Amino acid sequence: MKKLKTFFLRTYGCQMNELDSEIMKGLLERRGMQQVDDENNADLLLFNTCSIRDLAERKVMGKLGQLKGKKGRFIGVAGCMANSKKERLFKKLPDIDFVIGTNNISDLDQVLNEVLETGRPTLRVSDQFEEHLDYLIAKRDDPVKAFVSIIRGCDKFCTYCVVPYTRGKEVSRPLRDIVEECQKLVDKGYREITLLGQNVNSYGRDQPEWRVRFHDLLYYLDQIKGLFRIRFMTSHPVDIHVELMKAVRDLPSVCEFIHFPLQAGSNRILKKMHRMYTVEEYLEKVAQLRELVPHVALGTDIIVGFPTETEEEFQETYDKFQKIEYSVAFLFAYSARKGTPAFRWKDDVSEEEKKRRLQRLLKLYEEMAKADKEKMLGQEVEILVESKHQKKGYLKGRTRCWKKVIFSGPDQWVGSLQKVFLHGYSHQTFLGEIR
Ligand code: SAH
Ligand code: SF4
Ligand code: F3S
Repeated sequence: MKKLKTFFLRTYGCQMNELDSEIMKGLLERRGMQQVDDENNADLLLFNTCSIRDLAERKVMGKLGQLKGKKGRFIGVAGCMANSKKERLFKKLPDIDFVIGTNNISDLDQVLNEVLETGRPTLRVSDQFEEHLDYLIAKRDDPVKAFVSIIRGCDKFCTYCVVPYTRGKEVSRPLRDIVEECQKLVDKGYREITLLGQNVNSYGRDQPEWRVRFHDLLYYLDQIKGLFRIRFMTSHPVDIHVELMKAVRDLPSVCEFIHFPLQAGSNRILKKMHRMYTVEEYLEKVAQLRELVPHVALGTDIIVGFPTETEEEFQETYDKFQKIEYSVAFLFAYSARKGTPAFRWKDDVSEEEKKRRLQRLLKLYEEMAKADKEKMLGQEVEILVESKHQKKGYLKGRTRCWKKVIFSGPDQWVGSLQKVFLHGYSHQTFLGEIR
């Protein structure tokens, strides 16, 4: 059997994929393999892919198409495209040796052995995740911040979204395992943990006998000494309840930042999206949150050009977006995904019109972000120093509400909390100083 010595790993898509890549990296290193940056010097090329929008898939297909032959290398595709395309990937890209789904990462070793032994294309894709993945093997590059998975999959079935099909049903991870991993990370020097799930607020729902819900988990994790900051993403608006808001208010380590995507500002479109809330209910939660946690920063995702969205309905999204004053927003043009309910509806907003709506919203976002930054100037904020900046003598970090800041300070401050005065900004990054 040929021995694989080196691997090249490229990750597309969301934080779940980043974490899955860190786990795969750990698994490959356990085999004695070494990561390399140059794909031409790797025995194995592994692509952890994303299916969320057409562009995400095209990026991967473009990259794989460019490889120009195998040159003795092995090529594997992991991630959401493995689940959405399965064996069709072998047809499209005959150089691929194996396809391994999001729910099969723990089989990576076995799959590699199978490929090496048989030389045949190998497919390993299950619809359902079974909780026996060794999260502790993950190899993280960042020394201060870590992602920790608390729930995989999604049961929401928004009509536009592939995730319930690429990641399967919701499966919560046992509380004990999460706490153990977080404690180990803190012992290693990690100071910030972002809890990951497509919908973290569903945590525990699939395991009612555990009697642990998401906010309970936060109370447990807040007890870990040396864990300065806890973040979480993403939150589905229907599952945000007052208990969670109170946890954000009361727990010192839980950052006052909640990413809970609105998606659209029109009730008819929200219903068609199967988001299960109305604009009024959403606004009610925003008001309640802001009352309980006055400085809370809000994040959102918005989709424009959903099938049948009219100009007036887009305008409703625009108005809500303006009114709510988000601190962070990810704005997307609708992309029809095969296998989703919305795929069967006519994608009737033209690409030009989608682009125009997106541009209008982006322009508003830019203006609002500028005003938001101006408001923060002159404030003193708490920064967790995340790394050195490329400019010598400078450090990079973030505020509790996720704003990037650079300022000068000694290298040994990496991993510490500092009070920094904000005096300017350039693009999305604040410039600060210690006073
Ligand atoms: N689970 C998270 C988001 C996962 S995907 C949540 O529900 O909040 C990240 C974002 O991609 C979504 O919030 C949505 O805004 C966007 N998205 C998902 N499917 C899309 C599609 N078909 N076209 C355009 N944007 C999409
Ligand atoms: Fe997709 Fe909706 Fe699930 Fe988010 S909640 S992953 S948008 S189906
Ligand atoms: Fe993409 Fe899959 Fe994440 S589709 S956004 S990598 S869950």
